[in-house]
Amino acid sequence: MKIEGKAFIITGGCGSIGGTTARMILERGGYAVVFDVLDEAAGTAKVKTYPHPERALYFKTDISDYDSVSAATTAALAAIPKGSLAGGVHCAAIAPGADWSHHLKDSVPRFAKVLQVNVYGTFVVDACIADAINSQYPDDGPFAPRTTEERGIIINIASVVARPVPARCITYGPSKTAVLGISAGMADFLGPFGIRCCTVSPAVVASAMMSPDRIPYFETELDAATIFPRRQSDPAEVGQGIVFLIENSMMNDFELRVDGGWRNSSNWAGPKDPRANALSLE
Ligand SMILES: NC(=O)c1ccc[n+]([C@@H]2O[C@H](COP(=O)([O-])OP(=O)(O)OC[C@H]3O[C@@H](n4cnc5c(N)ncnc54)[C@H](O)[C@@H]3O)[C@@H](O)[C@H]2O)c1
Repeated sequence: MKIEGKAFIITGGCGSIGGTTARMILERGGYAVVFDVLDEAAGTAKVKTYPHPERALYFKTDISDYDSVSAATTAALAAIPKGSLAGGVHCAAIAPGADWSHHLKDSVPRFAKVLQVNVYGTFVVDACIADAINSQYPDDGPFAPRTTEERGIIINIASVVARPVPARCITYGPSKTAVLGISAGMADFLGPFGIRCCTVSPAVVASAMMSPDRIPYFETELDAATIFPRRQSDPAEVGQGIVFLIENSMMNDFELRVDGGWRNSSNWAGPKDPRANALSLE
C-alpha cells in the first residue's frame, strides 16, 4: 500500500518510536495524525517540528479512555482529506517500573494499570481506527460480501518480552502478550473489510522509555542475550519495519521482531536469586 496521500493515526506519536514513525510517514507524502497525552498546544507544537508540518495533526488523547479515543478519531476524520484514513500505528504504552518485592501482591495495582493502558487501550484504539476506516465506505451491514480492495492496516507495538515473559516484566510482559493476541484476532476479524493487522516487537530501543539509569543494565543484558547486533536499536530501525509492513500488502497477521536475534528469557544465571541480577521494569 502506498503511503503517499494516505492518513495514519499514530498513538504515542510524540514519543520515540511513534515520533520517528510519524516523520517517516510525512517524508513519504502521508498525513500523520498524532494521538498523545500532551495538551493541545504542546502536542501541536511538537508535531509541527516534524517534516511537512502542513500534513501533521495533533489530538490530545488518552488511549486508556474509550470516550477520548472515540472523540479524537471522529475529529481526525473531519480534519484529514475525505476518504484518506488508511491505518494506524499504535505506539502508546507504559512500562512503569518498580522496586523488587518478594510479595507478588504488591504488583497487583500496577498490573491493573498496565492492563488498562496497554491492553484495553490497544483494543479501543484498534476498534476506533478500524471503524473509522470502514466509515469511509458504504455500510453493507455485518455480513457484507468480502471486499477485494485494500482499505488499510493497523500495526500494534508489542515487545520481545511478550513471549517468553521474564520476571523483570511481570506486569508489562503479559500486557504485551495480550497485544499479540489482540493483533491476531483483529487481523482475522478485519480481513473481510480489507484491513490488515500486524505487530512489531522491538527489543531494547534508545527512547524516552529507556531512562538513563536503565541503560547500563540493558547494555549488559543486550551483550549477553542478543545474537547480533548486541546493542540498543535506533527508533528508525523500528520505523523501517513499520513502513515495510504498511507498504507490502501481503504482510498480514505477522509479528515482525526487530531485535538483533534476542534470545533472553530469564535472568536465572548464577547461584543468586535471579532478581538480584536484574532491574524490575514490571
Ligand atoms: N523503548 C523500548 O525499549 C521498547 C521496547 C519494546 C517495546 N516498546 C514499545 O514501543 C512502543 C513505543 O515506546 P517508545 O519507546 O517510543 O516510548 P516513549 O515513552 O518514547 O513513547 C510512548 C508515548 O506514548 C504516550 N502515552 C503513554 N500513555 C499514553 C496514554 N494513556 N494515552 C496516549 N498516549 C500515551 C507517551 O506520552 C509517549 O509519547 C510502546 O508500545 C512500548 O511498549 C518499547
